[in-house]
Amino acid sequence: MTPDVSAPTTLVILAAGQGTRMKSRQPKVMHRLAGRSMIRHVLDAAAALSPRLAVVVVAPGMDQVAAEVAPALTAVQEPALGTAHAVAAARAHLAGAQGGVLVLFGDTPLITAETLLRLRQALAAPERPGVVVLGFRPADPLAYGRLVLDSDGNLERIVEFGEATAEERTIGLCNAGAMAFDAELLPHLLDGIRNDNAKGEYYLTDAVALARAMGRTVAMVEGDADEVLGVNSRAELAVAEAVLQKRLRQAAMDGGATLTDPGSVQFSWDTRLGRDVVIGPNVVFGPGVVVADDVEIKAFCHLEGAQVASGAVIGPFARLRPGAEIGQDAHIGNFVEIKKASIGPGAKVNHLSYVGDAEVGAKANIGAGTITCNYDGFDKHLTRIGAGAFIGSNTALVAPVSVGDGAIIGAGSVVARDVAADALAVTRGDHVEKPGWAARFRAAKARLKAAKARE
Ligand code: UD1
Ligand code: MG
Repeated sequence: MTPDVSAPTTLVILAAGQGTRMKSRQPKVMHRLAGRSMIRHVLDAAAALSPRLAVVVVAPGMDQVAAEVAPALTAVQEPALGTAHAVAAARAHLAGAQGGVLVLFGDTPLITAETLLRLRQALAAPERPGVVVLGFRPADPLAYGRLVLDSDGNLERIVEFGEATAEERTIGLCNAGAMAFDAELLPHLLDGIRNDNAKGEYYLTDAVALARAMGRTVAMVEGDADEVLGVNSRAELAVAEAVLQKRLRQAAMDGGATLTDPGSVQFSWDTRLGRDVVIGPNVVFGPGVVVADDVEIKAFCHLEGAQVASGAVIGPFARLRPGAEIGQDAHIGNFVEIKKASIGPGAKVNHLSYVGDAEVGAKANIGAGTITCNYDGFDKHLTRIGAGAFIGSNTALVAPVSVGDGAIIGAGSVVARDVAADALAVTRGDHVEKPGWAARFRAAKARLKAAKARE
C-alpha cells in the first residue's frame, strides 16, 4: 500500500550555528555551491514536499539569511542551546501544525528531494511512527551521533558521540541529522528533552528514546553518505562542491549533452542544456545560462547569464557575460567577449572583439579586433549593427551609433556617426607611400654611425 503523504508538511531548517570554522564574515549557510547558497539548496530540495510552511532558524544578526530564504520565514534562536532548543525557537510557527514536521540542517546542502520524500513517506507508514531518522554509514564515523538498534533491529535511541561508550562508538550507523516528526507529537517531545548531558545542550536526538518511552514507534531511513555531507569548513565546502559538480555533469550527460572531459567542466545549479550539445574541456558556467540543441562550446569558455540558440558555435576561449543572446547558427570565436548584446542568426564574431550593449543583425560579420565603445565614463550606450553588415578589422564603434543593413566599414575605422544601409564608411587616414624612402633612411643612418666610429 502506498503510504499517505498527502498530509501537510512543515519544514524547519536549523541554521543558527555560527560556523566559526569557516572563518567568514558571512553566515555559513550563505556560502555558495554551484553558484547558489547552501540554504537555498536545502530549501529547494525540500520544495519537492510542497511544505505548507518553511521556517529557517537563525542567530541574531543573520538578516542576510532572512532575505535569501524569503518567502520562507525565519525564527531567531538566542542563545544557541542545541538542536532541540533550535526547533523550539520555531515553535510559534508550529502551533497547530498537522501532518509531519521535517527538520533539516542548513549546512547539509547535498540532501536530495528523493531522500526527503522517503523520509516523509516513512512517517506516513501504516504504523504511524512518531519520529523518522535519516541514518547513513560514513566511511569514517568520526563524531557523528550513533544509531543504537534494539534486539529486533529497530531504532532504540541516538547517542551523541560525546556521551557514547567505547562500544557504542564502534557502531557504523550514524545520524545524518534530518528527521521527520509527527506534528502533534513534536511539542511534547520538545517539552520532554533535557540538557543533562556532556555539552549541557538540548539534543534533538533525544527525541527518539523519548518517543519510544511515550509508546510510539520510531523508524529509520538510510541515505547515501555523499548526500549528508556537512559543511563546517572551506575544505568541506570544496568537497561538497566536487560532489555537486559530479551530479550536475552526470545530469548533463543523461540529458543528452556530450562532455569530452567532464571533470574539467563546472556547472551552475541552474545550467540548462539542450540535446546534442557538445562541451569541450575547461568550460565554466556561471548562473543563468540556457543553451539550445546542437550547440558546440569549445574549450576554455566562460558563460554567465547567457542564452545560446541552436546550432551556435562558441569558443574556444570565449566569454559570454550576462545579457548575451547568441542567435541560431551564430559563431563566437576566440578571445571574444559579449555582454548585454544580441547576436543575430548566422552572425559571426570570430576573433578578439568586445561587443557590449549592442544589437547585431542576422549574418553580420564582425571583423577581428572590433570594439564597441559602449561606456563614456558615465553612461552605457547602444550600438546597432544591421543585418548582413561587414565590420572591418580593428574598428571602434563609438556608441551610441548605428550601422545600417549591408553597410561595410573599412578596417581600422573609428565610427562615431551613423552609417546608412549599404554604404561604405572608412575613417582611417589616406595611404601615403614614398618610394625608396626606407632604403635612403637606413643608408643615411649607417653613414652617421660610421662617421661617429672614426672620431
Ligand atoms: C548533529 C547531531 C548528530 C549528527 C550530526 C550530523 C544533535 C544533538 N546531534 O550533531 O547526532 O550525527 O548533527 O551532522 O542534533 N544548530 C542551531 N542551533 C543550535 C545548535 C545547532 O541552529 O543551538 C544548527 C546548526 O547551525 C547546524 C545544525 O543545527 O545546522 C546541527 O548542529 P551541529 O552543532 O553541527 O550538530 P552536530 O554536533 O554536528
Ligand atoms: Mg555538525
